[in-house]
Parts: sequence; structure tokens; C-alpha cells
Amino acid sequence: MIKPLRKAVLPVAGLGTRFLPATKATAKEMLPVVDKPLIEYAVDEARAAGIEQFCLVTGRGKTALVEHFDIAYELEATLRERGKHRELKELRANHLPPGAVTTVRQQEPLGLGHAIWCARAFIGEDPFAILLPDDLVLADTPCTKQLADAYHETGGCVIAVTEVPRAHTSRYGILDVGRDDGRLVEVRGLVEKPKPEAAPSNLSIIGRYVLLPQVIAELARMERGAGGEVQLTDAMARLIGHVPFHGLRFEGRRFDCGDKVGFLEAQIAFALKRPDMAPAVRAFLKTYVNDGVGAA
Ligand code: G1P
Repeated sequence: MIKPLRKAVLPVAGLGTRFLPATKATAKEMLPVVDKPLIEYAVDEARAAGIEQFCLVTGRGKTALVEHFDIAYELEATLRERGKHRELKELRANHLPPGAVTTVRQQEPLGLGHAIWCARAFIGEDPFAILLPDDLVLADTPCTKQLADAYHETGGCVIAVTEVPRAHTSRYGILDVGRDDGRLVEVRGLVEKPKPEAAPSNLSIIGRYVLLPQVIAELARMERGAGGEVQLTDAMARLIGHVPFHGLRFEGRRFDCGDKVGFLEAQIAFALKRPDMAPAVRAFLKTYVNDGVGAA
């Protein structure tokens, strides 16, 4: 029997050093793309896939993330008094039911695999999604929903994958590809951040996963991998051959918001999707491109 997918783990303990000084006193997952913080995109995407329970794996200085999903009574009262009904409605749309969010602390930065292992009590014996809020996906069908559908098809682990330039393989988890129907890819192996010459393909993992709970036992070995960290990729690799394991070439565009240029690109792409902003954004972009405004 294929168990329903109701849980998601969101690792948010990272220090965000690439975005200093912006992240000195706030969580990088609170940085907005247009007007919504990265964390909220991830939660909205998970909810659209039927996820009902969320576990944030947090660390020091991350309390704003938990506050964000609380009810802001004073703010709501003020908006109501001022007749700002649209803003109030938007704010309320992010309310999660009582008890839907839990947090665990990852006290030490020992890697993504260690962060997921910290959520083991939340995961229990259930399948679960992982969303890395740094990765933003613009898609007609939310990426996690696409993964959830593929999970129901295959009954095993499914990870979202995309082709990257070979020169970039050392930034990502990379697949050794078996049977490939153009959409679902059988995973034969996984390597974390291989050098281009050692990479088994140029098909990379993005920050969206649906995994079976068996991965926790593999993580518990606490073996150190690339960068001296406990890597989720290594634990997943050990499940191959024991459970169905597929990569899904998802539909949509992925933005690496852990990277400054990727983050900027996401701002533009998401703003261009907004009818209230698109004309103005398109107009100013044209002046930068055509007239060389701001060129050095
Ligand atoms: C993590 C994973 C990597 C994956 C990437 C996607 O790396 O370890 O396999 O390809 O996320 O964004 P990180 O970006 O944390 O270095």
C-alpha cells in the first residue's frame, strides 16, 4: 500500500553567509522575492501538494521564521481598523491550522543530511517531502505536487532533477541515470558535488524531494561525505536497489536563490508574472538593456 504524503521537512538552519550583511540579524529564508519571503513560497508549494504537517529544522537566530506562521493579532486589528481588507485577506491566507507547524533545532551545522535526521521523530514511519527554500520553482503545477503525483505512481523515492552545464556539477547532487523515459528517470547512483570530469551525468538534484522513511536509518550512520558534511545524497544513494528510486524532470523553471544572480533573476521572473507589476518592470528592463542605463 502506498502511504499518503502529508508531511514536509524544511531545513532552515543555514547561516546565509552568501547574503551578508542582509542575513546578519534575520533568516535568509525571510528574504522576499517581490513581496513574499522564500519560506512562504515553500510552505505554499507544499500545501498545494496536500501537505498538512510541517517541520522547520531551525537554528539560532531563526525565530522570525516561526513568528511568520503565527497569527499577528495587533497587525490584523490595525488593518481592520484602517479598512485594509485586501491586505488582511492576504495575511490570513498564510495562516496554518493550529499544530500544523513544529520545529526542531539543528544545534550544529553538520550538513543537510544531519538536518533531516534531526526531524526523525516528526517523520516517524511516514513518507515525507523535503523543500529547500533556497530553490524556488516557477511552474503551472507546483513542483512538489508533480513529485507527489510521481510518488503515487512509483511508490518510492522521487527527487526533482534538471540538467545543468557540466561545468556546474560540483555545486549539486548528480544522478547516475538508468532507464529514462524523458520525464521519469531511474536513478542508478547519486554523487554529491562531483567535479565535472568525475560526474556520471549532468542531471542535478534540485531542492525538492519525496523520500521514504528508510532514509533515516542511513542518515543515522552519520558518515561524512563531500565537504566533511553528513550528506543527504549519500544516504539516499544507499537506498537505491532497495526501494524504487526515480528522478523527475519537473515542468517549470528553477531559480537558485542561494546565489545572488539567481535570486535577482527570481525577482524579475516572479514580478513579470504579476499583472500589477509586469508592464512597469518590462518597461524599466528595456531601458537597462536597450539604452545601457547603469552600464559601467
Ligand atoms: C543541496 C544538496 C544537493 C542539491 C542542492 C540543490 O546542496 O546537497 O545535492 O543538488 O541542495 O539546491 P547545497 O545547496 O545545500 O550545497
